[in-house]
Amino acid sequence: MSEKVIVFDTTLRDGEQSAGVAFDQRDKLEIAERLAALRVDVIEAGFPAASTREVDAVRAVARQVREASICALARAVPGDVDAAAQALRGAAAPRIHVFVNSSDMHLAHQLRRGRDEVIGIARAMVARASDAVGDVEFSPMDATRADPAFLAELVDAAVAAGARTINIPDTVGYIMPHQLAAMLDQLRERSRELHRAVLSFHGQDDLGLASANALTAVRHGARQVELTINGIGERAGNTSLEEVVMALRVHGSELGVHTGVRTEGITELSRQVERRSGMAVQPNKAVVGRNAFRHASGIHQDGVLKHRATYEVMDPSWVGNAEGTQIVLGKLSGRAGFAARAEALGYPLRGARLQRAFERFQTLADTSSTIDDATVTQICQAIS
Ligand code: KIV
Repeated sequence: MSEKVIVFDTTLRDGEQSAGVAFDQRDKLEIAERLAALRVDVIEAGFPAASTREVDAVRAVARQVREASICALARAVPGDVDAAAQALRGAAAPRIHVFVNSSDMHLAHQLRRGRDEVIGIARAMVARASDAVGDVEFSPMDATRADPAFLAELVDAAVAAGARTINIPDTVGYIMPHQLAAMLDQLRERSRELHRAVLSFHGQDDLGLASANALTAVRHGARQVELTINGIGERAGNTSLEEVVMALRVHGSELGVHTGVRTEGITELSRQVERRSGMAVQPNKAVVGRNAFRHASGIHQDGVLKHRATYEVMDPSWVGNAEGTQIVLGKLSGRAGFAARAEALGYPLRGARLQRAFERFQTLADTSSTIDDATVTQICQAIS
């Protein structure tokens, strides 16, 4: 039987931590509305302790968006937890996400507290958040570089204090998939309490491994993944929602899992986040890049014209890509791609006429990066 993986979107929180990105209340509301329409399960709307404007923005999302759980982030300090609780008042399904540093490096150089103190802080702040909203997620920050025995102890304290979700952050995008697999297996063995909570994974993309790590986490028991649209986020970004959700759609039956995401809304939401964040999506970005379904080489064009799935692992309509499969004519295109475009433009060429037109096309294509429809039309008219 297929199990559900909870999709936790953090575009409005970790995504906003991208250098140069700032969402105002309208941006947050519009993006949150669309995320809810996409049927993500949890929307992390922001970090209320940051400012009163952030409290207002999270509150607006919490009041207006009713179809998803709305989450607010809080450091493990009373003021943050209270600010999160205040911002979430009125939400249909509020969640507070409490985090504290967990690696020895962070404890020594940033938090400057001992391990026992950190366990006490986590216990107290999870309990405080739990009293306020009931649904609490706990993250031991920099978990992938923490001591495994201490991590298990910290996780147990958080679950005992009321955390319903334990999120394992790869805060600096450090871990490799096989290491993460071993780490999660070991954590489940060491922890006495983890079975009572949902295991979640949050990955940064510093080494370009975030999506692979999220899928590995799912294979090793995670039933929540934390993601952002277009993979925006701190430094090199967070884990791309579109990549993980589509990988789970393509491979879900083998993995025995599914998400509730309506994937047909992905491309539109990606474009909206691109506009609102000002962060351009690279053309070759998986799933949502402008080139994701564009075929430039003759061999691939010949294949997709005969049978789309020869060179595509998903149908563009699955992600709401309105342009669909595209043949881009250029230097590497073959006769099949050229003939198909000519025919679509009203010039069904065969035999010697096709050969002559194709030779003209090749001469032009050698010196320009792409050949547009107007040029194909001119070539066809010239040999008619
Ligand atoms: O990267 C990180 O560790 C975080 C946590 C707050 C989940 O963003």
